[in-house]
This record gives sequence, structure tokens and C-alpha cells, in this order.
Amino acid sequence: MNPSTQEFKNPFRPGAGHMPPYLAGREKESQEFQRLLRQDTILENMVLTGLRGVGKTVLLDTFKPLAIEKGWFWVGTDLSESVSLNEQNVAIRLLTDMSVVTSSVVIAKEEVASFGFSREKTEVRHTLNFATLEQMYNETPGLVSDKIKNVLEIVWSCLADQDHRGLIFAYDEAQNLADHSAKEQYPLSLLLDVFQSIQKKDIPFMLVLTGLPTLFPKLVEARTFAERMFRVVFLDRLNEADSRDAILKPIESINCPVRFHDNSVDTICRVSGGYPYFIQFICREVYDVWIQKINAGEEPSVPVDEIVRKLDSDFFAGRWARATDRQRELLGVIATLENCDSEFMVQEVVERSKQRLEKPFSSSHVNQMLASLSEAGLVYKNRYGKYSFAVPLLGEFIFRQSQRTS
Ligand SMILES: Nc1ncnc2c1ncn2[C@@H]1O[C@H](COP(=O)(O)OP(=O)(O)OP(=O)(O)O)[C@@H](O)[C@H]1O
Ligand SMILES: [Mg+2]
Repeated sequence: MNPSTQEFKNPFRPGAGHMPPYLAGREKESQEFQRLLRQDTILENMVLTGLRGVGKTVLLDTFKPLAIEKGWFWVGTDLSESVSLNEQNVAIRLLTDMSVVTSSVVIAKEEVASFGFSREKTEVRHTLNFATLEQMYNETPGLVSDKIKNVLEIVWSCLADQDHRGLIFAYDEAQNLADHSAKEQYPLSLLLDVFQSIQKKDIPFMLVLTGLPTLFPKLVEARTFAERMFRVVFLDRLNEADSRDAILKPIESINCPVRFHDNSVDTICRVSGGYPYFIQFICREVYDVWIQKINAGEEPSVPVDEIVRKLDSDFFAGRWARATDRQRELLGVIATLENCDSEFMVQEVVERSKQRLEKPFSSSHVNQMLASLSEAGLVYKNRYGKYSFAVPLLGEFIFRQSQRTS
């Protein structure tokens, strides 16, 4: 192998939140975000949503420098572990995240006499660090929402003359936020109430939430005004041209020892369905296989069956394992619907099960099982009461499973 080709490593990155070697497409979504950045009064916040592995996290990562360049502060975190957050924790979460950027903001300077006989004085700077924010919070009377709103208002009054446009709170995996009426804890509603209230007061603090398609219905269920408060951007699979870019741009360098043929690119587009995670996964595999074939002096091609088998065990099997036998039977029926990869209705599933099964499902049974499958993260219900698979290309996987076992 020529020495320069040895240095070129497999560039593809299948993995949650791993920035791809080339982020294809997504111009419209990015422009939409930049439009929201131009708001003086925040009338619209953003929800960035889509199926697993479609590229929400990495797109959110690219928004950060865009916002900072336009004079915004950016704070936030990943809410994966936040199912059990209560109201107090949400308030502390906001303070903690905010303190990362506000801790360098000096709100007062004080001259303090040094120790000893020297007459010199030292300057002590008081900043908006976490301790200060927490103290303000604790000293404000009232409910959690009164306290946190007050701190946010004070923070903005200190930041406003710093020539900043505003502050963005970006939360990934936000579908994990939930109200718990049994415990009388409403952290999700709190978050929405607080932002609605401070935005009405013309404070430019904007929410950018990303999460699975359950996120937006959940927000609206908590507070109906959420419908007007958010611009929902649904990330879909990449189109043909963007898929080709995602596959080809990373290996364009002259140092790259691998070139994919046109028909191989077509195959990768078809098998991946244009879903970004699948593109990265397949390309990573193909790249490795091609290097070996080239080194062995063989003509390389895309080993579709082997790669799909590996994808099934690496990506789908874990999720499939969470379903019970009867749930799998139901999913098997759904997978035979022509529209299984878009949306389907309970009644369609009931009808199809009558045609396919000896013991068909009743509609209340289907409703019940879809509810538990949605908790397991395999399906989700949209606002119009229709269901979809929450995992891309799940229908094809289920079909392959049934072929293998039959
Ligand atoms: N526009 C894109 N072009 C090429 N690859 C992409 C693109 N977007 C995402 N990817 C790749 O797809 C994979 C999944 O991306 P990411 O983790 O951001 O998805 P996600 O929607 O946040 O998934 P999850 O729902 O599991 O959190 C990563 O390997 C990433 O590199
Ligand atoms: Mg993600």
C-alpha cells in the first residue's frame, strides 16, 4: 500500500451524536433556525424532532456556532436521564446551565483592604456564578416558577448591556421530560410556563428542544399554548442527492485509497433508505471490506446480505428483544401493511390481523398493545391518533425476521 493511503482512516461514524465526516443536506432546517435567531421578541421556539438516528443531535451541534456568531449565548444539556425530574430540579437545571456562561459576567466590584499593615486594597469581583444565582433563587419568595422567573429576569438585566442578542437553552432528548400528576410534580409544564412568561416580557431567552416524535405531542398535552410557542422541524431521511453526498464526500480526498462505483452508491442509498445512521453504518462496513479486497487484488462489491445481517444484530435486535411474543406477532401483522413505514391506524391493524392470524386482535387489544409498544420506544402515536414505527425501516427488519424463522 502506498504510505499516504495508510494515513487515511475509515472516515464514517455510525454512533449516537457522532459528527459525520460530511453533514449532508439539512440546509432548510438550518435556515429555519437562523430565521428564529433574527427574532427580537421571541414568538417562536424550536422543536427539532425525528426518528432514532436521523441526525437530531449532530444538527443541534451545528446550530451552536451559528447562534454564537450572531451574538447569542448558548447553554443546555442532554436530558436522557431526566424522566424523574421534579420542578425544583428543573429550576436548578436552568440555573446550572445558565451559570456556565454567566459566571464570567461581573455584576459588582468591591475594594477590600488587604490583610496586614499594607494600605493596598484588592478588588473583589462579584459574578453571576452558580452560587450567586442560587442565592437569588432562594431569596425570592413564592413558588418554584416565581423564583426561577425572577432569577431569569435579573440575569437578563445584567446581560442586556453586554451587547448580546439573547440566550438559547438547548435541550437534547427532551422527550424524557414529563409531568407526574400522581406526585403533583409538573416540571414540563413549569418549563413551558416560565419561558412563555419571560418571553412575554420581551426577554430574549429561546428554547430549542430536540427529541423523538413523541416530544411535541407531549408538550401540547402539558400546555395547549405549546402549539403556538414552537416551530416544529421534522427531520426526515436524506433525499437521493444528499445521501450520495453523505456517502461520497468523505472519500473524495486524493489520499483516500477507496472509490465507490456508481452502482455501489446506488445500493447503499437503497439499503440505507437515506437514513443517516444507516448510511454511516453501511459505509463504514463497505469501506473496510473494500480496503481488504483491494489489498488482496480482488474486485470489490457491496456485501449487502452480510451488512444487513450485522445491522440487524447491532441496531435492531436490542429493540426487538424488548417486545414480548404477542407484541412481535402484532408487529408482524403491522409490517405486512403497505403503509407500515408511514402511518397506520388501529382499525387497519385489526382488519389485517383477521386476515392473517388464527387468533386475531380486537381493537381494544391493539390499542393497549400499541400503548405499551410506544413505552418500549418501538412505535409512537401522532397528534391525530395514527401510529408510526419509532425506528426507521423497522418494517423491513420484521419482514426479514419472519423470513428467517419461517
Ligand atoms: N446530515 C447527515 N449526513 C450524514 N450523516 C449524518 C447526518 N446526520 C446524522 N448523521 C449520522 O447519523 C448518525 C446519527 O446521528 P444523531 O446521533 O445525531 O441522530 P439522532 O437523531 O440524534 O438519534 P437519536 O434519536 O438516537 O438520538 C451519526 O452517526 C451521524 O454521524
Ligand atoms: Mg440524539
